[in-house]
Amino acid sequence: MKHKDLLGIKDLSRGELTEILDLATYMRDIIDRGEKDNSLRGKNVATLFYENSTRTRNSFELAAKNLGATTTSVSVAVSSVQKGESLVDTGKTLDALGMDAMIIRHQVAGAPRLLAETVRASVLNAGDGMNEHPTQALLDLMTALRHFDSLAGLKVVIVGDIKHSRVARSNVEAFGKMGAFVTLCAPYTLLPEMVERLGAKYETDLDTAIAGADIVMPLRLQLERMNQALFPSIEEYHKFYGITSKRLKLASPDAIVMHPGPINREAEIAGDVADGDKSVIEEQVTNGVAVRMAVLKLLIEARN
Ligand code: CP
Repeated sequence: MKHKDLLGIKDLSRGELTEILDLATYMRDIIDRGEKDNSLRGKNVATLFYENSTRTRNSFELAAKNLGATTTSVSVAVSSVQKGESLVDTGKTLDALGMDAMIIRHQVAGAPRLLAETVRASVLNAGDGMNEHPTQALLDLMTALRHFDSLAGLKVVIVGDIKHSRVARSNVEAFGKMGAFVTLCAPYTLLPEMVERLGAKYETDLDTAIAGADIVMPLRLQLERMNQALFPSIEEYHKFYGITSKRLKLASPDAIVMHPGPINREAEIAGDVADGDKSVIEEQVTNGVAVRMAVLKLLIEARN
């Protein structure tokens, strides 16, 4: 892979996705053996999160440490951002401190691309507004590949707040490039305008969408991005769009349930499904470290 930055799945070919996934599988073996890969010893990685995160931030930091790099976490709330420093000037400062990679999460779509165009370091998008979350899609592909021989022809149903979801956008690209068929399922109020432009089928009836599905992926309701009520109540939403064990019986007998997290039990997913034998939610988190090790190594080594 010859990219300086990882900004979106849109920028990657199927061959590049496969290259990342193959290296991530190697990294997962290293993690399982309790070993380290020190190929980034002497390199510096900074995390710059303008939005909250548990999984992405911690797994990127762990991934960098597993590769022998030093990590610096810019706490936006107590940094010079609060004194009015712009994103570009913050990036230039991190460049001057000798960062090899900057991992950014930002509420504004396109902020990672702006940073990437400004700094020498590799920039990795850890989620930008409603645009993309490429490493989430990569870890979702990796997790799916550990349960199915091939993703070609699989039926993937992404259910919930599609309108505000960068995960849905990246996964439509990622699973589509690997030959899977993606259906987006939500009430009309939670589908984006011109949903057909995303390149996936859409369906408003969950029982229809989930029939025969191999992968069922509920998404959190992103209340923080809604400026008006888009559904009557959580209880009603759960009744029509929640993934319950009863509804899961309509999916393929070998179906798996994925969720990017954080989960809201009894909203988009029933607690017994989240904890049940079809759920691979914790496996996704572990694979996130392996995928992030792979992309950090590929991007930073490509710069040398
Ligand atoms: N999936 C995901 O991005 O989780 P965090 O917000 O905890 O990083």
